[in-house]
Amino acid sequence: MRAAAIVPAAGRGERLGPGEPKALRELAGQPLLAHAVRALSEARSVDVIVVAAPEGEEARVATLLHTVVGDTELHVVTGGKTRQRSVALALRVIPDDVDVVLVHDAARPLVPEEVIDSVTSAVRAGADAVVPAVPVTDTVKQVDTAGRVEATVDRSQLRTAQTPQGFARIVLESAHRDAAEQGLEDATDDAGLVEHFGRPVIVIPGSEDGFKVTRPLDLVLAEAVLARRRSAGVN
Ligand code: C5P
Repeated sequence: MRAAAIVPAAGRGERLGPGEPKALRELAGQPLLAHAVRALSEARSVDVIVVAAPEGEEARVATLLHTVVGDTELHVVTGGKTRQRSVALALRVIPDDVDVVLVHDAARPLVPEEVIDSVTSAVRAGADAVVPAVPVTDTVKQVDTAGRVEATVDRSQLRTAQTPQGFARIVLESAHRDAAEQGLEDATDDAGLVEHFGRPVIVIPGSEDGFKVTRPLDLVLAEAVLARRRSAGVN
């Protein structure tokens, strides 16, 4: 059986400022989405990639990615109004012989191949749902609406969730089906949906390179990581 990776890439990305949809903003001369899809296609464990593109950008995205994916099977679908909806629409075109599905944000262009393959392996080893995550480095304060500190959270138990998140296909499909039936549509991550329906989710080590490009400073950081990789002869 094969593994597929869904890439929801249909968001506007307004926190990055005005301009192209976020997935199509450039990093070192290539859209964020191309970097993310290249990483997935180079990972040994990924056989099929399904991209949910911004409405009206499907043809452009397909042309752009054909030069990037090599031999990996590629499908492009039209994304939805929310990230959850984009993932649900992509799930519909996953081929029958796929039993493991990863979901990876286009906005995480620098994810290392090792993280991708570790997530797939953990699902193949029997986990329902797998999240790569990193420890929280800042001290976290819980505050009230007036800005008064109510608690200092014990950060040793906190993790920041990254992607790709990995799932047994039937687990992810049933979580999305149940969510749609219950009118839930704003889940910001797929493992959160699986957890909501009472299934176990496990965490494995992520990578500091797996950060999400959200604000303008993140693009500067991503350029620096790429420059470091190039000078080290990686990529
Ligand atoms: O906005 P945020 O950074 O949380 O988006 C996470 C991912 O979900 C991005 O890759 C974005 O393109 C995608 N997304 C989507 N469809 C939407 C909204 C977001 O595919 N309607």
